[in-house]
Amino acid sequence: MPSKQKSPSSETRKQAHSEARRPVWAEVSLGTLAHNLEAIRKYVNPPHEKRRTPRKILSIVKGNGYGHGGPQVAKALEKAGSDWFGVTCTDEGIAVREAGVRKPILILTGFVPGEETRLLKHNLTAVVHRCDQLPLLERAARRGGRKPASFHLKIDTGMNRLGIAPSDVDCFARQLGKCKHLQLTGIFSHFASSGVFADTAVGKQTREQEERFYAALDRLRALGIDPGLIHLANSAAIVSRPETWADMVRPGAILYGYHPGYDPAEKRDEAERLLPLKPVMSLRTKIINLRRVPAGEGVGYDATFVPERPSLIGVLAAGYGDGIHRSLGNRGSVLVRGKLAPIVGIISMDVTMIDVTDIEDVAVGDVATIYGSDGDHVLLANRVARSIGTVTSDLLCAVSQRVERVYAR
Ligand SMILES: Cc1ncc(COP(=O)(O)O)c(C=O)c1O
Repeated sequence: MPSKQKSPSSETRKQAHSEARRPVWAEVSLGTLAHNLEAIRKYVNPPHEKRRTPRKILSIVKGNGYGHGGPQVAKALEKAGSDWFGVTCTDEGIAVREAGVRKPILILTGFVPGEETRLLKHNLTAVVHRCDQLPLLERAARRGGRKPASFHLKIDTGMNRLGIAPSDVDCFARQLGKCKHLQLTGIFSHFASSGVFADTAVGKQTREQEERFYAALDRLRALGIDPGLIHLANSAAIVSRPETWADMVRPGAILYGYHPGYDPAEKRDEAERLLPLKPVMSLRTKIINLRRVPAGEGVGYDATFVPERPSLIGVLAAGYGDGIHRSLGNRGSVLVRGKLAPIVGIISMDVTMIDVTDIEDVAVGDVATIYGSDGDHVLLANRVARSIGTVTSDLLCAVSQRVERVYAR
């Protein structure tokens, strides 16, 4: 059953979305986003801990701000006090810069050869995850002139994806010595399984990653290199592993209001208690047609839904081309008039069918909430994600370009 939570009424929502467009829109509450950021900032800066400078927050706004609109959420987060931003590539970074964001922006996935000149031109901070990127960045920095270009070094501590191996630290240091136009201002790694607390090899992985990271850091310092800002923690580590917080934390999922999955699953309840968050996005559409379908007749492609009783089927103006995950067909539900209406049949690119037989007074034009809040009710995106075996960020990032984002305080 949908749980209750205070939010704007259906009437307010109808006004927020411009009426003369295809009715599919994502409501993004910038006030809620700022609330989540503030909650995280307080959480990682507990009053009992005496630090000279508060621990910084690098807000992850890649993937178009987890579907919320990267430049818009970055602007709102900067105003709310975020210290840094993280995007995946130069193009995402430029979009955030051009929105007017002044704080540093880290290009998390590094750069492909040729991309580094544009990266530096827009005052973005590069990530070096292979030693052979240093000469490329140095050349671009030399051509760019003025002051040394700052960059962060990524260490691969066990994810086996991106980053230099701890054993390559010496080689990195030698090469850096030849780069007069570069300045190392940060060092980081990414956890593979920070939400896993099971008594298994995977459950021990985060600790091992930390150990490898700090060994690499010690070696770098022994070679006379100041690493700058040290950062490691993603959402699960931020909430559940305070020992990983270092100088700066990198929240993604939790900024947008959702705790990641944990093993064991009960750990999520503890996370929700420790750091209460509010979902930022509600994805909505409207019923654009109602059909009476007799018992025994198929609905949608391949007739995968055949009602056993005469049914009233609502057609929603949104499909997988908008970000309604196709695997919700015949499995998921949406909120209409505060009730759950099952999704029936295969989800099409542009439309989705729902069974509204049991929804009193249902009418064409009614708002359907795919996930988020509907008046006093809420259908959480993480529940939807879990029901189809995926993660919340997958659902949020899937909200496509043709979906209008409506920003509210
Ligand atoms: C390097 C890095 N840091 C932080 C994050 C944020 O992760 P999460 O959404 O789990 O907080 C990501 C996301 O994948 C990432 O790639």
